[in-house]
Amino acid sequence: MSRTVYVNGAYLPEEDARISIFDRGFIFGDGIYEVSAVIGGKLVDCEAHLARLERSCGEIRLALPWSKAELVAIHEELIKRNNLDEGGIYLQVSRGAADRDFAFPTDATPTLVMFTQARNMSGAAAAKTGIKVVSCEDIRWTRRDIKSVNLLAPVLAKQFAAESGAQEAWMVEDGVVTEGASSTAWIVKGKTLVSRPLSNKVLPGITRKAVLAYLGETDFKFEERTFTLDEALDAEECFITSATSLVMPVVQIDGHTIHNGAPGPTAIRLREIYLDFAKKGGALG
Ligand SMILES: Cc1ncc(COP(=O)(O)O)c(C=O)c1O
Repeated sequence: MSRTVYVNGAYLPEEDARISIFDRGFIFGDGIYEVSAVIGGKLVDCEAHLARLERSCGEIRLALPWSKAELVAIHEELIKRNNLDEGGIYLQVSRGAADRDFAFPTDATPTLVMFTQARNMSGAAAAKTGIKVVSCEDIRWTRRDIKSVNLLAPVLAKQFAAESGAQEAWMVEDGVVTEGASSTAWIVKGKTLVSRPLSNKVLPGITRKAVLAYLGETDFKFEERTFTLDEALDAEECFITSATSLVMPVVQIDGHTIHNGAPGPTAIRLREIYLDFAKKGGALG
């Protein structure tokens, strides 16, 4: 039997519930969720769940347009409409739908989705036998080599950049630059390009790979190593690469001018080469 679910103000049969493909929860994981238990048709610890929801939303600066009382009322309405005796209520709020851009949209309305899940918890057979666990490495989120849609951290970094009058954020960990929020970071020293080695710390940029493949066209060398922010501030040039920015000169970091504050010849040359290959339909093997 179909459940009644809640989507943005409407109670609907689950098969009629829709949200936009541009929803930032779907595109970026730019959202927060909570699950409250229901036992004997009654909400359990709902106030505490909603307090954590408010806190989580505050941490990512998602302004919740619903009061706690309104959210409790929706929970209760879902219990009633679904005749839920025991199980849970899943709540997800996202920053809403907007054309894909990391920084917060100015005109999006948060999306609120809630649904019930019936589950026998009080009589769970496992409570009599106990359960087994396995151990695994905690990889939250150390697998940046995976191009996951789990992009909340880059969203916050890009928003910080936008509010600082910048277009990109270079993320720093253990004293070295990892990468841009959505790009590979490079510095130039003399005729040498420097970018950090591939590992699970960074996304293996396709544009990075292409730039390296085209280096044969130039007399630039490549040094694959990490670099600090200080080294970047002191570099002759800095630039980023990505499928969106292609090769883009960086002229300022944290308010410090890089070299003379103008796009450097290396980035300009690499951009030209990249565009030449691209226009000829250049494709990496
Ligand atoms: C974290 C991160 N690093 C690097 C890149 C550059 O990758 P590519 O050159 O494949 O666009 C991206 C692109 O989105 C990215 O999100």
